[in-house]
Amino acid sequence: MKTIDRNYLLDSRQMAHFVADGYLRFDGLVPDEINQAVMAEIDAGTIKGAPAGTPLSQCYTGSAIKQMLDMPEIRGMIHSLVGADPLFDHDAVHVREPLEGKAQGLHADSIIDTRWEDFDIQIMYFPHEVPLEMGGTLVLPGSHFRRVNEMDIAGYQNMVGQLPMVCPAGSILILHHGIWHCGRQNKTDQRRYMFKVRLNPAEPQQRLWNTDDLEEDYAAHREIFAGPVDPNDIQVILAKQQPWLEYATGRLEIVNRVRMWRYLTGDDNFDVHYWLTRLENRPSRN
Ligand SMILES: [Fe+2]
Repeated sequence: MKTIDRNYLLDSRQMAHFVADGYLRFDGLVPDEINQAVMAEIDAGTIKGAPAGTPLSQCYTGSAIKQMLDMPEIRGMIHSLVGADPLFDHDAVHVREPLEGKAQGLHADSIIDTRWEDFDIQIMYFPHEVPLEMGGTLVLPGSHFRRVNEMDIAGYQNMVGQLPMVCPAGSILILHHGIWHCGRQNKTDQRRYMFKVRLNPAEPQQRLWNTDDLEEDYAAHREIFAGPVDPNDIQVILAKQQPWLEYATGRLEIVNRVRMWRYLTGDDNFDVHYWLTRLENRPSRN
């Protein structure tokens, strides 16, 4: 396995955005020669995954999918979130037919899952441009901690804050496995392709990114809400709002994000303001 170039790892701000939103997107990242080669493989039906649990380094030999996954930027994302050689879970080529008369219901994938700290990622790869009328994958930012069973939420439509993936060719969406999403209706006369692969971590998901910018002295920022707000402050990122959250503060999600950030950093004292520390005040257990 090739070594990772630290310059391509995610930084702490990007990780914090992933924790807060449940996704990261990178528009137009994959070059057109790979995009074209992947679409040819989709048309030929030659993309073959592997048995669940196979190390990713052993998957997609000889395929343009491997060229995409081996791009240093994408290897850096994967390493930052699920480690150096995560396990293949499953993949899928999602095709939306031209002028399709229906859309997919809102859902979360394969949530028969009692884990809390560890998480899978799903990489969604859009090999051609996706305009709004073509649909694209829709995600609900920040929904990844609201664990639901598959299509339980399919009755919900047009949630405030939803994000349709409208993007140039070669775009990448990396999702936390719990995020609510769906495939939207394709109203164009062209087929729409999206390739998805799910990966399981094979090592503790702790400090796998480039932590050079990780602040250790959070206490100095504890009262940040009383002063000027720096949008690049990790505590500010982790406190960011979504329009569908509870009125005013979205405190439940801030607590969930703090728990995840503590796991990722190994810093059990981290907090945003006082939201989680307050809940740990349990004298009955002393
Ligand atoms: Fe899905």
